[in-house]
Amino acid sequence: MKTYLIEQEYDAYSSEDHLVWEEMNRRQAALNRNKISKEYWYGLDLLQIQNSRLPNIAALSNKLSGFTGWSLVPVKGLIPAEDFFNLIIEKKYPVTTSIRKASELNFSEQPDIFHDVLGHLPLLINKKFSDFLIAYSKIAIRYVGNEHAVELLARLYWYTYEMGLIVEDNEYKVYGGAIITSANEIENIRNARVPKHSFNIDHLFRTPYNPYKLQNEYFVINDFSSLFDSLVNLESRLERHLSYGHITL
Ligand SMILES: [Fe+2]
Repeated sequence: MKTYLIEQEYDAYSSEDHLVWEEMNRRQAALNRNKISKEYWYGLDLLQIQNSRLPNIAALSNKLSGFTGWSLVPVKGLIPAEDFFNLIIEKKYPVTTSIRKASELNFSEQPDIFHDVLGHLPLLINKKFSDFLIAYSKIAIRYVGNEHAVELLARLYWYTYEMGLIVEDNEYKVYGGAIITSANEIENIRNARVPKHSFNIDHLFRTPYNPYKLQNEYFVINDFSSLFDSLVNLESRLERHLSYGHITL
């Protein structure tokens, strides 16, 4: 039995939990739409996520699967990497049921239902992004247990899925879920002194990250098709970097 697979005990949420959700949604709605990818807003509009009460994951799953074939799986805590990739490959998206405390409105170290739902679900509706995530997981699952490979693949995941930028209308827009759910990170992107590199797997493999600080640099894709297409070379680039015998720390 996988202990992280749980039921969402909806009635167990307190009124404070719902208030935190509502406040996080209020802050999210106040974000400048222009800073975030139009693909995100397209998905969010389709999902029609309620903003005054925490979402019922089963109901949201039904709605999402009608558009994409993805379903949602309520989970508790961190999932072992291999299990996470297996779920993604089966188009089962894990959603943390817990919600941050009122004292963590600005920053929550652990992903919560707000991060998982508002940060990530809308982009699953984009076919190319969804294909990228599944194809990435099919490669990554083969390297579970290879410490160096896991670190390099985590960097790719981090600089795209969590911290990715995309060019739209000649401007940088956000598609990474960790930026979308962090007002401070969105502000950080406006800082011209923070480098925005063109997406390049070799460069990205050489770039460590710190999940607990504002990012020092970002990687920018031109479109989701090119992100998906980049995976064609992923394994050869990965093997090349692994052959060096060390990774940049
Ligand atoms: Fe995330």
